[in-house]
Amino acid sequence: MSKIKVGIIGTGGISHCHMDGYKALPDRVEVIAVCDIDEEKVKAYAEKYNVPRWYTDYNEMMAKEDLDCVSVCTWNAAHKGATIAALRGGANVICEKPMAMNTAEAEEMRAVAKETGKLLQVGFVRRFGQDADLIRKYYEDGLTGDIYYGKATYLRKDGCPGGWFGDKSYSGGGPLIDLGVHVIDLSRYLAGSPKPVTVFGVTYKNIGCNRAAGSETAWGGPDVKSGYEYSVEDFASALIRFDNGFTLSVEASFNLNIDSDRGTIELFGTKAGINAANCELYTAMAGKYVKINPYGDNSFQFAEIFRAEIASFVDASVGAAPCRATAEDGVWLMKILDAIYESAETGKSVDITPIETI
Ligand SMILES: NC(=O)c1ccc[n+]([C@@H]2O[C@H](COP(=O)([O-])OP(=O)(O)OC[C@H]3O[C@@H](n4cnc5c(N)ncnc54)[C@H](O)[C@@H]3O)[C@@H](O)[C@H]2O)c1
Repeated sequence: MSKIKVGIIGTGGISHCHMDGYKALPDRVEVIAVCDIDEEKVKAYAEKYNVPRWYTDYNEMMAKEDLDCVSVCTWNAAHKGATIAALRGGANVICEKPMAMNTAEAEEMRAVAKETGKLLQVGFVRRFGQDADLIRKYYEDGLTGDIYYGKATYLRKDGCPGGWFGDKSYSGGGPLIDLGVHVIDLSRYLAGSPKPVTVFGVTYKNIGCNRAAGSETAWGGPDVKSGYEYSVEDFASALIRFDNGFTLSVEASFNLNIDSDRGTIELFGTKAGINAANCELYTAMAGKYVKINPYGDNSFQFAEIFRAEIASFVDASVGAAPCRATAEDGVWLMKILDAIYESAETGKSVDITPIETI
């Protein structure tokens, strides 16, 4: 059987994790073309991974190559254009998170996937962790009962990645769209994928980018790299209500006066609560309040989740398995993020309109 032919658009940091995922499937997949607007970078990348052809224009790559699958790993502002070009060029696409800059772009991408009959998966990689699998199983086996409240945080004390991540015209937003998206999506997924209905959110820009740049605690590079403005929030918080009665409180920061970075998801169900960090369950049994702690390390492993995500995408692209992070999931997330930013702007809660059936 011939191998699945893959292209990668955007050859920066995260593209290496996609490449690693494809390289882990040597009998089924070959990466035959890569593209980046930075010629030096794409050349070096093609050389490093023995990719036969490289491009600086994704339209040219899609015109010249016969690709079955494409990974879109560009900065957020290029997700829409690259994804639509790849779909129209006949490829199935996995697009990194956040799906797009806003809901309108995400809807357009979903419509093109529908029109072309191609798969569009969104890079919600945290869904592919062993922790997510176990917690989802708790829920499906009825151990938690209905999950009615959740608390999710993704907080960095001094952790703006710098560069385009802090420039709204490239990123679409700050820690909310970059980090919050992971824990909002995972919480929604673990609570049975309900639909969001109302959002109240706040954002703050009080600290700025990398105030301790150069210190041992600083995460990113200097304040503003050439050509980039620092124009995103430092911190965002929101309360999101879903149609099945689930409510999620979320907090995300690049910079916050806090003791240490933290990323947590706690879910509270009618039968048991869960701490996602160690997959612990909290409930009452035999007249006692108990903590159930599964054996082994059940936390997610960074390299493993990308391998699982890419393997699942490849399976879904040939119809061997259902897609586990659909374009529709991506649009719901963009609707939530847009509503949080709108609510922060207006000071009022924002109702979320349903996704159109297409
Ligand atoms: N899933 C995760 O955990 C995770 C982690 C980090 C980043 N990401 C996402 O991955 C994406 C890339 O992030 P990164 O950290 O790799 O950024 P990066 O800056 O390291 O790489 C982005 C690359 O895209 C290239 N690019 C931009 N526009 C392009 C275009 N039109 N055509 C071809 N190439 C283009 C840039 O030149 C750059 O090399 C972002 O959407 C980010 O949110 C996801």
